Amino acid sequence: MAMFESLSPSHLLIVLMVFSLQLPSSLPYATFVFGDSLVDAGNNDYIFTLSKANSPPYGIDFAPSGGRPTGRFTNGRTISDIIGQALGDRSFPPPYLAPDASANMTLTGINYASGSSGILDETGSLFLGRVSLSQQIKYFEETRAQMIELMGENATIEFLKRAVFSITAGSNDILDLLEPSIPFLGRDKLNPFILQDLMISNLTLHLKHLHELGARKFVVVDVGPLGCIPYVRALYLVLKGCYPVANRIVKGYNMKLSRRINKLNEEFGPESVFIHANSFDIVTEVITNYHRYGFGNANDPCCGGSFPPFLCFRGDDANSSSVLCQDRSEYIFWDAFHPTEATNVIVANKLLDGDASIASPINIRKLYEYEL
Ligand SMILES: *[C@@H]1O[C@H](CO)[C@@H](O)[C@H](O)[C@H]1NC(C)=O
Ligand SMILES: *[C@@H]1O[C@H](CO)[C@@H](O)[C@H](O)[C@H]1NC(C)=O
Ligand SMILES: *[C@@H]1O[C@H](CO)[C@@H](O)[C@H](O)[C@H]1NC(C)=O
Ligand SMILES: *[C@@H]1O[C@H](CO)[C@@H](O)[C@H](O)[C@H]1NC(C)=O
Repeated sequence: MAMFESLSPSHLLIVLMVFSLQLPSSLPYATFVFGDSLVDAGNNDYIFTLSKANSPPYGIDFAPSGGRPTGRFTNGRTISDIIGQALGDRSFPPPYLAPDASANMTLTGINYASGSSGILDETGSLFLGRVSLSQQIKYFEETRAQMIELMGENATIEFLKRAVFSITAGSNDILDLLEPSIPFLGRDKLNPFILQDLMISNLTLHLKHLHELGARKFVVVDVGPLGCIPYVRALYLVLKGCYPVANRIVKGYNMKLSRRINKLNEEFGPESVFIHANSFDIVTEVITNYHRYGFGNANDPCCGGSFPPFLCFRGDDANSSSVLCQDRSEYIFWDAFHPTEATNVIVANKLLDGDASIASPINIRKLYEYEL
């Protein structure tokens, strides 16, 4: 901000004009990232929570940090990182809670995502701290107010119109439902159909709120095949393959989401675009045909072993560390909940350039290029 304080309003206008003329060819596209641990880029490092990825070997393949953990819940880049890089980002949207996160916000955007959060406010309470989706959007309101201070209301409106808002949430709402009830602790479980409807109606409120705040380009990522993740398979003693009950609940939610996204596109017309990103079908296809995608293991997590308590950590010596697989590129799952970077690369590339069965009504590359 200091850089702008010495500029007169007319200078600032020129800076902004040059800035907007250069988009999109030479500057990266700003992305505002909301959601859970699939896209958290380090926010949970700054809060008190059991849901953290701040110790090795998390981040072991993340080149920008030299293999040190960044709070990402995988060995390398998240899907959101990979999409950003493919579109020319030189640096990733920083986590909102990091000091100085707003320094480059008009270039990169900001990441508000938080591990163990869901669409609903109460989701993830077993992990204690997390930034709920409601709170993530409140934080975005603060970012937006800062932008208005920095470049005025009109430029902010123009800037947000071009930015992409990606929301990856819903897995933890359904995981909470699949979790065994803990007497006196867990809240009462909802009927799965009621939960799906509640998730859709609440997510719709959030999307409309972001729209009111100026967001026009949305990527809404659906829920992946939770019945296939090592954690859920262990919970329900499914040794190979997937737990079908969980996947049916997820599919029901995703179908409702797809219909709702269509409705939002109709309601808001061509001045806004809402994409439904079908991560479920991509990940299911990769798990089913894992050999074809170059994987050797579709069942076990690379880190932390295949049985509870699934702790993935590195101690002072080999004996006090958890199991870590030899070849991380051979595994679909990094830990009991999250995909490896190798899997994220496949999902990201399909969402970027896939057809309407994967990203609808347009793919993510077209969304970034779409002129409003
Ligand atoms: C902002 O961008 C500069 C130059 O790319 C980089 O050195 C710096 O680390 C960035 N700051 C944040 C908080 O991301
Ligand atoms: C639903 O969304 C609104 C914000 O749009 C939020 O204030 C409210 O707490 C949410 N309800 C639940 C149950 O999460
Ligand atoms: C902002 O936009 C409005 C409507 O387009 C216009 O009337 C107003 O003069 C603009 N303000 C500035 C400071 O450019
Ligand atoms: C690790 O355990 C093995 C066998 O239990 C033992 O021989 C070895 O000395 C231990 N290494 C360290 C560094 O403690």
